[in-house]
Amino acid sequence: MSSTPIIAPSILASDFSRLGEECRAVEAAGADWLHIDVMDGHFVPNITIGPDVVKALKPHVKIPFDVHLMIAPVDPYLEAFVAAGADLLSVHPESGPHLHRTVKRIRELGAKAGVVFNPSTDVSAIEWIIEDIDLMLVMSVNPGFGGQSFIAGQLRKVERLRQMIDASGCDIILEVDGGVTPDTAPQCIAAGATALVAGSAVFRGGPAKYADNIRALRGG
Ligand code: DX5
Ligand code: ZN
Repeated sequence: MSSTPIIAPSILASDFSRLGEECRAVEAAGADWLHIDVMDGHFVPNITIGPDVVKALKPHVKIPFDVHLMIAPVDPYLEAFVAAGADLLSVHPESGPHLHRTVKRIRELGAKAGVVFNPSTDVSAIEWIIEDIDLMLVMSVNPGFGGQSFIAGQLRKVERLRQMIDASGCDIILEVDGGVTPDTAPQCIAAGATALVAGSAVFRGGPAKYADNIRALRGG
């Protein structure tokens, strides 16, 4: 496995009053992607941002937008998020009735399709549609909030998904989201992750610290 993971700062932990500036600062500090958490107060107990904000941020940076949809129903909003600038669009299997149709639609719209595993979601959710997805996102916290503690038991799921990806021969990014810190990042990489989302661990300390924080997640 590559020892240099993709680092995707979650803007959920940024200063929302200066979002554009924060996005530019993490890009300048070496972020590979921007992770954008979309919550509806229904699928998860928190409300964040919608497609208009995604669209407003798009001109601020060149790095890809990794948009994590925590909304239900999800299907009516796929087009709006791709039009707003989502390069990768990830959905939870529990957020719609037909996951296969949803991921196919994301690809048709021109984005990469991701599937997100809640801590209780089984790997079998993607077993029969593995060829139709570009990214798997393992939640190592329950979705809804930043700053929660890493659930170490999810590392076994990362390992299992790594085996499934390798056996499939498909080119799929394996991403971990929640409680990723310089302590837990190496465990994620060892388990087979190729991308790491981090909110608090990137944005703590303010803009002067972002480059050091990102470097620490890559292993120093
Ligand atoms: C939680 C979100 C995460 C969150 C991660 O629902 O999906 O992306 O922002 O935040 P930290 O890194 O602080 O756990
Ligand atoms: Zn997320």
